[in-house]
Amino acid sequence: MEHLKLSPIIAEEQIKKRIKEIAKDITKSSSGKTLVAVGVLKGSFLFYADLIREIGLDMICDFCGASSYGDDSKSSGEVHLTLDLQTSITGKDVLLIEDIVDTGLTMNFLKKHLATKNPASVTTASFLFKPSALKEECSIDHVGFEIENDFVVGYGLDYQGHFRQLPYVARVENMN
Ligand code: IMP
Repeated sequence: MEHLKLSPIIAEEQIKKRIKEIAKDITKSSSGKTLVAVGVLKGSFLFYADLIREIGLDMICDFCGASSYGDDSKSSGEVHLTLDLQTSITGKDVLLIEDIVDTGLTMNFLKKHLATKNPASVTTASFLFKPSALKEECSIDHVGFEIENDFVVGYGLDYQGHFRQLPYVARVENMN
């Protein structure tokens, strides 16, 4: 991966600051019930870990997995579930935590999937959002940062499994 040129676009300090703001909003708008925080693996793991530690609510942690990307940067357009929840969310408030909304297909697929389990509510948070890449309408309750339609890595996001560990977000300059 040494051949890839990365340009940092969101610094670690900016991420920390924004997460505190989002967590405050989520905490403020709570119904007072226990929240089931659902992280979408693998990409959300750093955002998830940092966000839930700033939310001052009683919480149950769970994860799900969905896949639409193969090993490269092009979406296949079809989303499938790779890991389902272990917790019952019937009658519960759910916070769905994603790394990035690109085409919107994964977020919409997961919202529909969660709805089949009859939760009391589903609130969504995505660390990143690429509005100009949307293929279908997709509403997100809490967005960390809106970015251009570039391929980015770091803070959980990967290119072929690499770069997830970076504490900042970088644009990949020479993808092809
Ligand atoms: P969507 O279904 O097109 O919105 O894509 C959602 C998934 O695609 C995300 O959860 C990411 O795993 C992956 N993805 C989309 N854009 C990027 C990117 O710029 N970098 C890394 N992964 C991405």
